[in-house]
Amino acid sequence: MPTHKFIVIDDDSNGHPLDLFCVPKHYEDDLECILVPAGLINDRIERLARDILRDFSHEAIVALCVLKGGYKFFTDLLDKIKTLNRNNEESVPMSVDFIRLKSYVNDASGSKIEVIGGDNLENLCGKNVLVVEDIIDTGKTMTKLLDLLNHVNPKCVKVASLLVKRTPLGIGYRPDYIGFEVPNKFVVGYALDYNEYFRDLNHICVINENGKKKYAVKK
Ligand code: IMP
Repeated sequence: MPTHKFIVIDDDSNGHPLDLFCVPKHYEDDLECILVPAGLINDRIERLARDILRDFSHEAIVALCVLKGGYKFFTDLLDKIKTLNRNNEESVPMSVDFIRLKSYVNDASGSKIEVIGGDNLENLCGKNVLVVEDIIDTGKTMTKLLDLLNHVNPKCVKVASLLVKRTPLGIGYRPDYIGFEVPNKFVVGYALDYNEYFRDLNHICVINENGKKKYAVKK
């Protein structure tokens, strides 16, 4: 398979000021900047859909959504794949599956990663699985999920992650498809949350100290 390119957002990128785009009033004081505007996310996903369909070369795919953070990327990616399927000479049958994992409290990656819901993974035996995730940070969550998946013997497993964070804590894992590589900052919006807040924000933004404090979970 060819190595796919991705968009790199540099460490010195200041993103875009909030007042150049529309953000919900209730989050205006909680964000540092808009890192990836919704329109750019949409355009990038269109291309990811094309790359994915090409690589799977007309074999049926089970798209596995990693909840909750992956749900926006999942629905938008599948919409683009469905559009291609409707308009191309050849098409790829798709089905969907869901898994729910949890690893974060406040802005720290938890050491324990739990599967807290979803379909029976046994159903994926012998299938071509496309895992759809919001963000790879250290890579521990995805490595753990891939381990679980390998136990049920799928035909093949590929991973699409909208974001990959540049972090010194990374364990070296890289997904097959990447939307954007982002600086080591906590990002929210487009279904990515901070303690369940900010999923109702359509741009990917950097949270500020005020937001972290306001929505912190008291431990
Ligand atoms: P990892 O195991 O460190 O790679 O963490 C991956 C998971 O942590 C993702 O599936 C997200 O749910 C969550 N996560 C990591 N970084 C962020 C972030 O910047 N914003 C929101 N969630 C994040």
